[in-house]
Amino acid sequence: MKFILHTYGCQMNVRDSDAVAAMMTAAGYQQAVDEDDAEMIIVNSCSVRAKAEDKAIGKLGLLCATKRDRPERKVGLMGCMAQRLGEDIFKKIPLLDFSVGTRRCNAIPHLARRVANGETNICEISPAEATPDVPDSHNESGHAAFVTILLGCNRRCAYCIVPDVRGTEFSRPAREIIAEITALARHGIREVTLLGQSVMNYGKMNSVWDESDPPSSADFTEPFPRLLEAVGNIPDIRRVRFTSSHPSGCTDELVRAMSTLPKICHHLHLAAQSGSDRILKLMRRGYTRAEYLDAVNRLRSAMPDLSITTDLIVGFPGETEEDFEETRSLMKLARFDNAFIFKYSPRPGTPAADTMVDDVSMDDKKRRNQVLLADQDECGQRNNEALVNTLVNVLVDGPSLRNPKRWAGRTPGNKIAVFTPIDGLEPGAIVKVRITKVAPQTLYGKIVSVVAAL
Ligand code: SAM
Ligand code: SF4
Ligand code: F3S
Repeated sequence: MKFILHTYGCQMNVRDSDAVAAMMTAAGYQQAVDEDDAEMIIVNSCSVRAKAEDKAIGKLGLLCATKRDRPERKVGLMGCMAQRLGEDIFKKIPLLDFSVGTRRCNAIPHLARRVANGETNICEISPAEATPDVPDSHNESGHAAFVTILLGCNRRCAYCIVPDVRGTEFSRPAREIIAEITALARHGIREVTLLGQSVMNYGKMNSVWDESDPPSSADFTEPFPRLLEAVGNIPDIRRVRFTSSHPSGCTDELVRAMSTLPKICHHLHLAAQSGSDRILKLMRRGYTRAEYLDAVNRLRSAMPDLSITTDLIVGFPGETEEDFEETRSLMKLARFDNAFIFKYSPRPGTPAADTMVDDVSMDDKKRRNQVLLADQDECGQRNNEALVNTLVNVLVDGPSLRNPKRWAGRTPGNKIAVFTPIDGLEPGAIVKVRITKVAPQTLYGKIVSVVAAL
């Protein structure tokens, strides 16, 4: 049986889909090249905003409608929306064959067999406190991989559905993570991104080290910097990234680890959400504007080449024009390299949706979104102009999507760099590129040397 996966949402879902695809292949299923070719289609869904759920519901409706002409076809759902809706999904999509929650990914190959044998409307959801299935299988293609190190989230930001759908925090044992990355390196992976919702919380809620057999030099005492050191010591891994970060995790030790360990990329995705203290408090983010900026300043003093990206929400309940102007001014002070800007969307069951009125009009949300996007373009352009004529190391991804005659890769700061390839260049190599031209989110340049072949 041939299957295909459609993935919505964040890197956590990308990672889970990759693990499910690997488990399905190991169980004897074949990956289809496109949807027409697939007898089983699995949608991995996101619940973070209403629009994300609407997209998945729309897609599932269309897929189930194709069963009229292809009655043997099976359709399954996994991910955050599956977890949130439970059995109710079958009221919305009666022809759906199975729905699997975020903590039961490993059950999917078995469910696929059950639906192939004629069962339907199977629902497998574990409670949010249950020990989650860890996504540890990989397809091992390409040269970069995501590795989930921290599952769930214990913060309760007022607007956010993630703690409900991803459950309580669970940190994977360090040995297991190191073994997984060592195996990836043997299969040609050169860059890993460690994933967690508040990734620097790694090892705070459950123990992760076997102290009788420590995998790092113990130069660091906090669990996350220790893990960074241990992952950086794995042969053939050239770059280590992690996401997402919270200002509370930017301890002196973390700053020391990032600035001294050579393989840790100088990039942080440090979600700010708002620049107004009043809104930050209503959001229950746990820091003030001054504390956020203090973290940015400490990080930048230790790493002047650090690139910082962020998430911002516009139109949170009660956000006034003054609050919004505070967010604009935070963007200028923090000099973000990129920002993902979201219009507030009330999510059922979250503290904000239950206790606050969604009182900023859609027109105002749209306008504030556009204003921040324009501000960010200016900010990104200014930051990138400072890179003209400098040399940056680029990990080569391959032909650029827009113009395959040119190739693209990423800088340590996670910026896209576009350049003309040289003979024999392979994805996964690191090249030194002289930057000649920039746009707000892209660098253009020429290769001056190869730092490391694949
Ligand atoms: N854990 C990450 C952090 O705190 O940085 C973020 C995880 S969330 C999956 C990604 C982003 O979605 C958040 O940073 C926030 O900006 C946005 N988001 C979450 N809930 C939202 C909501 N109800 N409406 C609009 N945007 C939302
Ligand atoms: Fe959501 Fe806040 Fe957890 Fe991020 S830290 S996933 S925004 S609750
Ligand atoms: Fe990610 Fe969406 Fe779930 S952002 S954690 S896939 S709700």
